[in-house]
Amino acid sequence: MKIAIVGTGYVGLVSGACFAEVGIDVTCVDIDKRKIDNLINGTIPIYEPGLDDLVSRNVKEGRLHFTTDLKECLDEVEVVFSAVGTPPDEDGSADLKYVLDVARTFGRNINKYTILVTKSTVPVGTSAKIKAEINRELAERGMSVPFEVASNPEFLKEGAAIKDFMSPDRVVIGIESDRARKVMERLYRPFLLNNFRVIFMDIASAEMTKYAANSMLATRISFMNDIANLCELVGADVNMVRKGIGTDVRIGNKFLYAGCGYGGSCFPKDVKALIHTGKEHGYKMRIIEAVEEVNELQKSIVFRKLKDALGDLKGRRIGMWGLAFKPETDDMREAPALVVIEKLLEAGATVVAYDPVAVPEARRRLGDRIEYALDMYDTAVDADAIALMTEWKQFRVPSWNVLHKVMRGNIIVDGRNIYDPAELAEEGFEYHCIGK
Ligand code: UDX
Repeated sequence: MKIAIVGTGYVGLVSGACFAEVGIDVTCVDIDKRKIDNLINGTIPIYEPGLDDLVSRNVKEGRLHFTTDLKECLDEVEVVFSAVGTPPDEDGSADLKYVLDVARTFGRNINKYTILVTKSTVPVGTSAKIKAEINRELAERGMSVPFEVASNPEFLKEGAAIKDFMSPDRVVIGIESDRARKVMERLYRPFLLNNFRVIFMDIASAEMTKYAANSMLATRISFMNDIANLCELVGADVNMVRKGIGTDVRIGNKFLYAGCGYGGSCFPKDVKALIHTGKEHGYKMRIIEAVEEVNELQKSIVFRKLKDALGDLKGRRIGMWGLAFKPETDDMREAPALVVIEKLLEAGATVVAYDPVAVPEARRRLGDRIEYALDMYDTAVDADAIALMTEWKQFRVPSWNVLHKVMRGNIIVDGRNIYDPAELAEEGFEYHCIGK
């Protein structure tokens, strides 16, 4: 079976490499020539554990190809996945420019039955627009080539993307015919060994499922952050509350960690887009609006705690542990660290940061507005306080002795609740965390 995947970002590249790994012939397409040249030479544009090996092995074995030109491979493939970006417009709606560009190229060049499957997260109703765009192109060519559109939203998590793709909880596919269903079933058959479920549904429901899933997860986080803030006021401990409620099987124990807010390329964007879709249909998404509001406030909580602990921040030196929006990625999109850094700089503090992989990304975004340390202890030299923003494993058991020796102050603000308050008190640190 031969397929093409347009867009070599997280979703496109991971999907391409994983489909190739199970024996499907995959051509990955991107308009960015430099990206494609780099991929051909084995340079992966993103940090994702295991992806380098997967890509190079499948390229070597001849199942994974890269090109800048979708039309080159269209006569050969049965399915084209569209995994191009949908950056948010200023009003929070998804910009469909790239998605519709793919539809036009598809319509302009197909010569036989082909399915265009949207993997990008697009608002409900987009597949109808894609279909109209393809039909328009075909009409211009004066041709009637059979084609179909389908929706196959992606649920992979950065940092665990390959595992998520190879053994997903479920695959959701929106289709309009039995013919498309059969093709999609065959495509995902190699993964059935792992005993997961393919859920077929109509296209609008598949599109909606993605937003509902991410908004539900974001809701759990904002809910717990709200509870955490109240815990602090009433003298409760959010970690105990989490355990207390997470053992109820109806609630479940995942995604209940209070912290310094969610970031990344998905939750913030999808929450905004769902609010916008509601508005477009004259419906106010009250819960999701509150989820966003709580998260906006939570992203500066580490700053507020530093300010409460240190008073005037002018001239203070703050060591920052972690910059990425979560561990195992160099992604800083919507990262809480960015909000805290801006506020600290505005207040006249100096920020010295370290992240195991995100420093190049931080340099690109922030240049020399902050200092970059060589390792976690280097950030602490002469620091008045340490702010932990990302819970990388290597930050979990620091040498408190070394910190005492090199730091000027003794304040630790833990934005991810990874340390034990009793241990820190014993070690002589002033410890602030979230929700207790
Ligand atoms: C998410 C979804 O999990 C995935 O299914 C979807 O396809 C894309 O969006 P991702 O953005 O990679 O994936 O990150 P995820 O691991 O879900 O974490 C998102 C954010 O939530 C991070 O900033 C994380 O720190 C935060 N988070 C997560 C919490 O604050 N508390 C939690 O309990 C869990």
